[in-house]
Amino acid sequence: MAGADGVPWWRDAVFYQVYVRSFADSDGDGLGDLPGITSRLRYLCDLGVDAVWITPFYPSPQHDAGYDVADYRSVDPRFGRLEDVDALLARAHDLGLRVVVDLVPNHTSSEHVWFRQALAAGPGSPERARYLFRKGRGPGGDRPPNNWESVFGGPAWTRVDDPTPGSGSRGEWYLHLFDRSQPDLDWRNPEVPAMFEEVLRFWLDRGVDGFRVDVAHGLFKVESLRDQRGIPAGGGDLPSDREERSMVAREARDEPMWDQPEVHEVYRSWRGVLEEYSGDRMAVAEAWTQTPQSMARYVRPDELHQAFNFAWLLAPWSASAFADVVRGTLAAVAPVGAAPTWVLSNHDVVRHPTRYGGGSRGLARARAATLTMLALPGSAYVYQGEELGLEEVDVPPESRQDPYWFRTGKVGRDGARVPIPWRGTRSPYGFGPRGASPWLPMPDDWAQLTVAAQRRDPGSTWSFYRDALRARRRVARDGDDVELVEGRSTVLHLRRGGLTVLCNCGTRPVRLPAGEVVLASGRLERGLLPPDTAIWLV
Ligand code: BGC
Repeated sequence: MAGADGVPWWRDAVFYQVYVRSFADSDGDGLGDLPGITSRLRYLCDLGVDAVWITPFYPSPQHDAGYDVADYRSVDPRFGRLEDVDALLARAHDLGLRVVVDLVPNHTSSEHVWFRQALAAGPGSPERARYLFRKGRGPGGDRPPNNWESVFGGPAWTRVDDPTPGSGSRGEWYLHLFDRSQPDLDWRNPEVPAMFEEVLRFWLDRGVDGFRVDVAHGLFKVESLRDQRGIPAGGGDLPSDREERSMVAREARDEPMWDQPEVHEVYRSWRGVLEEYSGDRMAVAEAWTQTPQSMARYVRPDELHQAFNFAWLLAPWSASAFADVVRGTLAAVAPVGAAPTWVLSNHDVVRHPTRYGGGSRGLARARAATLTMLALPGSAYVYQGEELGLEEVDVPPESRQDPYWFRTGKVGRDGARVPIPWRGTRSPYGFGPRGASPWLPMPDDWAQLTVAAQRRDPGSTWSFYRDALRARRRVARDGDDVELVEGRSTVLHLRRGGLTVLCNCGTRPVRLPAGEVVLASGRLERGLLPPDTAIWLV
């Protein structure tokens, strides 16, 4: 149901991303879990968010931290039981928080019953037809069926053995756009959409408020599975860092594996399912499309409600780059009538204080970018730990777990996934019971960054987030129009309704326009806005 003002709850909600294994460990196995989350929901209310998005907690061999799902309608015993989901939902709803769960439709785990059946049944079988099995190329079919690369590095195909007893020979290849333990489903097979519709209903019936749709742009591949053009024979090098991997500068690339038109039919049918339920259930697409316009196609009125807008997260620290992102985003969603979304960090990218240079300067910039983002229309996504100003952690090689790191040797994503420090002066800082080792090591110097330490300090990043979220409810609700005020190219200056926002990306302090200060991301200097600082005025 829409709120009293007729606006559905998700349209301007602040979502808090809980990365299950790193939020709160209730049983001391070093991994966060559902009861751990439930026990901390009060904390999220105190912080002032509206909704929680929980990353996958389904049974999984955990080759990609749960994004390799072996059973979509159950809970991995490491994270709890189905009853724990019910308890979490009940507590969240009592506290007025909405809960969004992750849905992973592009691929299953290789341990999903369908994939096991596919391996056992052999070529040409209906079991194999749920995935993308193909014969190899060249003599003996020894080369992969096409030249596609996995997002995690190396070929996107793995060869399986022929299941004929005693044959001892190699057989077909299957497609996996991610790890080899994540075979891609064939969405042209009607069994696949049918299964996911049941999965949607299963969780909707249990009371979830929505879904985050993983790799939403990936479900359909060009039917012929033709080669990708522009890739050197024998495969190309993977882009060298995460930002590039995350699709920067892709506009000119031929991408027969992403963003195919057929995918929109799926989201139209899901919209219909969501609308059968009361309470404005919603879905947000993780769709790394090439342009803001192609992203907007996922949020047409009869498709998904939101799509993550990764443009800001990919932009450098620059007022003109931020202005372009704001302008480009609003222009893209306006024609389809969708609300924009904003996100600066998540579990797949380097945390934003580190991206902005790290140390005190990186943190100041991160706070300024956050305050600016929170002033904008639409909804914002906050990744756990950013309210503590956590930086990317340099995880030692022997502790790394990310398949991207193993397949490429490149930075990887573990550094953004280190567990949350709640209290105390030593690891595990209240993340789990004393003595339990967290699944990724926690730095020795986090005592000042714990939730408990920061809640005591009115100048902490935690207090700043809480104040900003409170202020947002009061003053940042005034319509969807944003005016980008002309100004110096080092300062982003915008107005939304009665709210004026400045973000100083330059190197000199700047004068403030007239108005009463609502909140600043750092201290003012003699009435001027220092570099790396943002402010709200009314
Ligand atoms: C998730 C990643 C995951 C990938 C494959 C994503 O976009 O956010 O963490 O590795 O999908 O499921």
